Amino acid sequence: MAVTTHPKLDAHRLRADFPVFEQPIHGKPLAFLDSAVTSQKPRQVLDAMREFYATSYSNVHRGVYTLSERATEGYEGAREKVRAFLNAASTREVIFVRQATEGLNLVAYAWGLDNLGPGDVAIVTELEHHSNFVPWQQIARRTGADFRMLPIDDRGELRMELLDDVAGDANVKVVAANLVSNSLGTINPIERLAAWAHERGAIMVVDAAQAAPHKRIDVQTLGADFVAFSSHKMCGPTGAGVLWGRRELLEEMSPFNYGGSMIRSVRVEDTQWNELPYKFEAGTPAIAEAYGLGIAIDYLEAVGLEAIEQHEHELAEYALERLAELPFVTVYGPPPERRVGLVSFNVDGVHPHDVAQVLDWEGVAIRAGHHCCQPLMTRLGVAATNRASFYLYTVPEEIDRLVEGLRKVKEVLG
Ligand SMILES: Cc1ncc(COP(=O)(O)O)c(C=O)c1O
Repeated sequence: MAVTTHPKLDAHRLRADFPVFEQPIHGKPLAFLDSAVTSQKPRQVLDAMREFYATSYSNVHRGVYTLSERATEGYEGAREKVRAFLNAASTREVIFVRQATEGLNLVAYAWGLDNLGPGDVAIVTELEHHSNFVPWQQIARRTGADFRMLPIDDRGELRMELLDDVAGDANVKVVAANLVSNSLGTINPIERLAAWAHERGAIMVVDAAQAAPHKRIDVQTLGADFVAFSSHKMCGPTGAGVLWGRRELLEEMSPFNYGGSMIRSVRVEDTQWNELPYKFEAGTPAIAEAYGLGIAIDYLEAVGLEAIEQHEHELAEYALERLAELPFVTVYGPPPERRVGLVSFNVDGVHPHDVAQVLDWEGVAIRAGHHCCQPLMTRLGVAATNRASFYLYTVPEEIDRLVEGLRKVKEVLG
């Protein structure tokens, strides 16, 4: 039997691809432990985008001249790379958006406004980022639908056993959840959630902003109806993101934005929409950025998504082990095998912003705040946390520097 093995990732070697690590911060080497907010970019992406702008740039789908054809090839080539990355059935299901937030709003507006109404229910989870929480809350309000939240347990895992109670005998129309939590790193059981949603006749909307950079997603087995993510968190540029949707649903939906490119014909009496995916891509898209996302996907595939996931599990395990040495640190979230490379914590008696500030002097960049998850912060009983998040270029020595930095924080401020 053929066995596929994935070579272990060499983060020390990969770091050489990222020019950002060449500069000192406050005279110290940079330990960038904030990849969940946005990732750093490898030379391969930076160089390819520069080359694209220098040699192949014009608007897409419009010109019959060489540059426009090259630009269209670059843009549509990236769409095919995204299709393969997600194992989607067709590029018609791959819509370029600005980022996960726009993809999720697209579904909430374009599907929600036409499909939700009084007596219907939209369910989100207590782990949601505001971008998959607020759109459903607001569209539910506008349509008269009910908006409900599935709670988590003390480990930061969804309380799946409460789904039937949360739904009651109401008409559940949509379940929206992230595949990976940006605050706790929890990997959520989307397949089970989607199966439950479908049994109820609801659609499943997945925020994959923290999943796509870190683990393989196969939309044909995930069970979701929509999946959204951002390029900038997965080594690609800002300004590009993806919404994948099931073709039957996308075909039925009204457009989200109106304007150029999304029409087939316009008359004063009426307008006909363009075919998928262009129906949802009004205006000039982020051409070079979509192209750059395609190069980032090449990069991640060359490293191996499985190797990245394994590397992050190891880092999460190491970070949890090392943080456990600090009696003044409270760590949130599930055990390492249930999370990606991300750890949220607080230092007793020290505000997270002060912690992050002192660490910055040490060249260690971490996040402090509510991470766009205020309902989750309420559940944890805190206003904010610190968060250290890892990626393919993170090395264990950076976690050691985090731990040493936290000892210093306690010494100075605690
Ligand atoms: C889980 C999750 N969803 C959505 C988003 C929003 O991403 P963007 O700002 O790229 O749209 C983020 C960003 O931090 C996130 O972590």
